[in-house]
Amino acid sequence: MRGKFITLEGGEGVGKSTQADALADTLRARGIDVLATREPGGSEGAERIRDLLLWGAEDRWSIEAEALLFAAARADHLAKRIRPALNSGQWVICDRFIDSSLAYQGGAGGLGIDTVRTINKLAIGDCLPDRTLVLALAEGGARARVRDNDGSDRIGGRPDGYHQSVDLAFRQIAAEEPSRVRIVDASGSPAEVTQRLLAGIADLLK
Ligand code: TYD
Repeated sequence: MRGKFITLEGGEGVGKSTQADALADTLRARGIDVLATREPGGSEGAERIRDLLLWGAEDRWSIEAEALLFAAARADHLAKRIRPALNSGQWVICDRFIDSSLAYQGGAGGLGIDTVRTINKLAIGDCLPDRTLVLALAEGGARARVRDNDGSDRIGGRPDGYHQSVDLAFRQIAAEEPSRVRIVDASGSPAEVTQRLLAGIADLLK
């Protein structure tokens, strides 16, 4: 039987990577075989593209080139790791996936969510996540945490207004696709947040 495909999304500094690990561990403790992976990256080729995307001058790529590079990395990651894992019955938990492109390049970057969906159609075909959990903090909270972080890569280091548009775009995507995409409150202790994530996939665990 095909495994379930779950993606975690959200802006900078919402504790997403910690939660991806915690969710993977919790599912493993329930006897589920889990592949935990992340984007950009996750396969050898995609990790090379990750370096191109995240480092160098802010104007190194146009927004169009940036969106296409994310999609190219995703196509490789999906073909080499995600699809084979799902086909072998493993569940896949991926830290960021297509919705990051929709929010960062489509919404905040100005390409438009629909244009970025079209670009990614070639990369992923019909392999959309079974569930996408967007970690979100109430307005203001996310930015405060970013300042504690080192938002020093090409994209994390963009101005506050860009990141506010990212948050808005995630909310728009969740409103458009309510059965796939759920907003999860990222406030409180890490254990509380993990419980909320589990509640967000309860129907898949039956
Ligand atoms: P990363 O170090 O993985 O950050 P985080 O811990 O926030 O996930 O850097 C990934 C950066 O790339 C992050 O700023 C979000 C951005 N990104 C996009 O802009 N588009 C995409 O499609 C993906 C997958 C990531």
